[in-house]
Amino acid sequence: MSENKVILNYDGKSFEYPVVESTIGDRGIDISKLRDETGLITLDLGYKNTGATLSEITYLDGDKGELYYRGYPIEQIAEKSNFTEVMYLLLYGELPTQNQFQGFEANIKKYNYVAEEMKKIIDAFPRSAHPMGVLSSLTSALTAFNPKAVDVRSKEDLDHAAEMLIAKFAHLCAWTYRKTQGFSLNHADNNLNYVENFYKMTFRMPNQDFDMNPVVVNALDKLLILHADHEQNCSTSTVRMVGSAHTGLFASISAGVSALWGPLHGGANQAVIEMLEMIEADGGDVAKYVEKAKNKEDNFRLMGFGHRVYKNFDPRAKIIKKAADDILNSLGIHDKALDIAMQLEKVALEDEYFVERKLYPNVDFYSGIIYRALGIPTEMFTVMFALGRLPGWISQWKEMRLMGDPIGRPRQVYKGSEKRDYVDMNLR
Ligand code: SDX
Repeated sequence: MSENKVILNYDGKSFEYPVVESTIGDRGIDISKLRDETGLITLDLGYKNTGATLSEITYLDGDKGELYYRGYPIEQIAEKSNFTEVMYLLLYGELPTQNQFQGFEANIKKYNYVAEEMKKIIDAFPRSAHPMGVLSSLTSALTAFNPKAVDVRSKEDLDHAAEMLIAKFAHLCAWTYRKTQGFSLNHADNNLNYVENFYKMTFRMPNQDFDMNPVVVNALDKLLILHADHEQNCSTSTVRMVGSAHTGLFASISAGVSALWGPLHGGANQAVIEMLEMIEADGGDVAKYVEKAKNKEDNFRLMGFGHRVYKNFDPRAKIIKKAADDILNSLGIHDKALDIAMQLEKVALEDEYFVERKLYPNVDFYSGIIYRALGIPTEMFTVMFALGRLPGWISQWKEMRLMGDPIGRPRQVYKGSEKRDYVDMNLR
């Protein structure tokens, strides 16, 4: 049994703090009494060493490159499960029985109508608006049409709000795409499952028969599974922080969409393709861009590389890389961007700079190549990430509320001016 406390010596005194045990992975020092006893706080920019909560949902080991959803390894989930089942698993903690699955799916179909007035909100956006800005606005706007989802007091209210948002969010993602293309907006077809519905709402044209291509549906399902949750990442921590003020679920998720938009986070999948296209346009000189990424004077970064936690291959990147190969072969597509990505990966993984800093391809490095093969435009890639991450955000928000986490309110180390008196304008 490892030591279950730590001792801090400060100002001639010794202070003991308990170590909180984990099922697996990081154990944490409980410093809830630190400031009262020592007058000190901790400082940890970007929370690289700081646990914000206790959680039972997702575990990842950055050194081993392992990821578990409710204890199940991502490799098994990606191979054997489907996105609707993964949504249930993350929300309720167990794989569903046949009856539970059918009940969950039926509820989603019961709530998957989106008010016509929402179309008026979409109409107000310019076609050039970035889809993530549209999606965040629409998600928050849903609150106006579903006020019951704001003030959840019971577990039943919470589960109802969760199933409503899951049901409607796929529309918002599909409609966001349709807006950029100037296409009419489709409603759900309840003869289809969740991913088939999203695919048809996104791509069905009113003047043509729709081809429900199983290769595309399976690829989308796998990608959504791989993005479903990832413990306390930037956007999930945002959802938890906003929700800790007892803000409604829809508005909390809207904040998560905005956090995911950032190019250092979910926006990286769009930035990767733009980077690969730039390298291709510049003659495909991969080595030149690896050198740029290493040059401290150059703010160019190899998008899709590196991770706050993974210091090994991101297990999702491995699965997506194989899926990219399979899908491109199955659809008979040769994408130069994939060739460049493979070359870039090879050069970077042999380069001391990347090896030393343990920078490996992450989930965003290959996902854009698949989205592009499926006909999804680059600026929609992060919307796809958001649709995948939705059940994770909701599950983490639900856990935070049910565990009764206090409102998030970090402290600071103040480095500003000493106290000083006001000076009238005419004396400055
Ligand atoms: C996601 O947290 C999650 O789980 C996120 C996510 C999820 O599922 O929710 O996994 C999804 O956001 C994946 C990450 C997508 N982002 C990118 O691909 C953008 C490119 N990557 C980097 O910006 C960076 O690696 C981060 C943001 C992902 C992680 O940054 P950290 O942990 O703050 O690391 P850092 O910036 O302190 O870098 C450490 C060193 C630095 O060099 P030194 O100062 O030590 O000399 O590594 C260098 C950095 O300059 N470095 C890179 C690099 N990433 C880090 N150098 C070149 N190219 C890169 N991509």
